[in-house]
Amino acid sequence: MNIAVIGTGYVGLVTSACFAKLGHTVIGADNDPSKIEKLIKLQMPIYEPGLEELVRDNVKHGRITFTSNVSEAIRKSTIIFICVGTPPLPDGGADLSAVEKVARLTAEEMTAYKLVIDKSTVPVHTGEWVKKTIQTYNKHRVEFDVASNPEFLREGTAIYDFMNPDRIVIGIASEKAKTLLLELYKDINAVKVVTDINTSELIKHASNSFLAMKISFANALSRICEKAGADVTKIAEGMGYDKRIGGAFLNAGPGFGGFCFPKDVSAFIHIADKLGYDFHLLKSVEKTNEEQKEFIMKKVEAALWVLNGKTLAVLGLAFKPNTDDIRFSPAMDIVTGLLKKGVKINAYDPEAMVNAKKILKDVKYFQDPYQTMTGADALLILTDWEDFKNLDLEKVKKLLKAPIFIDARNLYDPKKMKQNGIEYRSVGRP
Ligand SMILES: NC(=O)c1ccc[n+]([C@@H]2O[C@H](COP(=O)([O-])OP(=O)(O)OC[C@H]3O[C@@H](n4cnc5c(N)ncnc54)[C@H](O)[C@@H]3O)[C@@H](O)[C@H]2O)c1
Repeated sequence: MNIAVIGTGYVGLVTSACFAKLGHTVIGADNDPSKIEKLIKLQMPIYEPGLEELVRDNVKHGRITFTSNVSEAIRKSTIIFICVGTPPLPDGGADLSAVEKVARLTAEEMTAYKLVIDKSTVPVHTGEWVKKTIQTYNKHRVEFDVASNPEFLREGTAIYDFMNPDRIVIGIASEKAKTLLLELYKDINAVKVVTDINTSELIKHASNSFLAMKISFANALSRICEKAGADVTKIAEGMGYDKRIGGAFLNAGPGFGGFCFPKDVSAFIHIADKLGYDFHLLKSVEKTNEEQKEFIMKKVEAALWVLNGKTLAVLGLAFKPNTDDIRFSPAMDIVTGLLKKGVKINAYDPEAMVNAKKILKDVKYFQDPYQTMTGADALLILTDWEDFKNLDLEKVKKLLKAPIFIDARNLYDPKKMKQNGIEYRSVGRP
């Protein structure tokens, strides 16, 4: 099938490359010409494991091309995937201006049938608005369908997740749209949940909010554990074996981040408000998440007493490992908060420093985790990159002014750290 993927960011680029791999003919289109220039030169505008190889292979086989001419991409394709950003507005709602632009452009450019599928995460009723917009500007009065197909991939394992999803959610309003979408995904072996568009849109917000709720629950537990002298990691293990609960997303830490959970939780609260329901449960999830970042900062303060003028070695800036994405990263917020308190930050992240440098200009960046520690007053781990799990503790002790180690990701065994003579503080563990 001929597919145009509009927006070649974390979701759009993976979607383009994976549909090409499945044998479809794909045009990846973006209104940011710098991204397209890079892609044409086979340079990736984002870091995602395996993506470069996948794009190269599909370009070589002629299954994927890139353009900044979005109109042309729409004209040449029957299937239009909307994969643009839906960032948060100051009131917590989702900014749908990019989605609207693509809908209007599609309406103006189409001269033959199009199936317009929204893959961006959007509030319920967006599909209805996309349909209304296309109807309004449908210059050539051609037939079209609108559908919803939310994406559940995780950055860092995005290609695997796209190809091996737990489920594919398809929201449709016509048999033709259903047939086309099922055909598109026929080679992916996963349960297909076929429903109406409103329900499909809500499945995405409900799923992300539920996962965020699990993380906030674990973080709230971590606070109780510290007061009660219990171990939150063991509680998560003990809970996780219960199949009704499941062990995933029960890790206490610095709070959830990234371009999905924070904005999706606030968008869902906002939608519920607009629909006349006070989603106080999710408001608490959001509040707990904000408090958790403060909680980590207080740990640093408890370890160092006076913060002003101290130097902290910080490992990790991305919101999670295996990505360069720093959007709504708790690490970025914590570092910003510590800088405001007069702490000097020496930072290292395997992939996220290029992005972080654009925002945190007062931070000193290093090319190796150990370089950050030379002469620092303490070490703080904020992202659970694999590289940070097996640090040479003797070297750490030698490089730091004093062996003070704050671990916001619970990567080390507190007992072993004590045996090693390290003053170790983690999250929710005795
Ligand atoms: N990042 C994730 O892990 C993830 C996972 C699932 C769903 N989502 C959702 O997918 C959507 C996209 O997220 P992302 O992380 O890929 O965002 P992104 O910012 O990385 O990518 C969006 C892209 O759209 C382009 N764009 C914006 N307006 C455009 C327009 N009018 N025409 C053409 N291109 C345009 C931007 O230049 C950018 O390259 C969001 O709604 C997000 O919530 C993201």
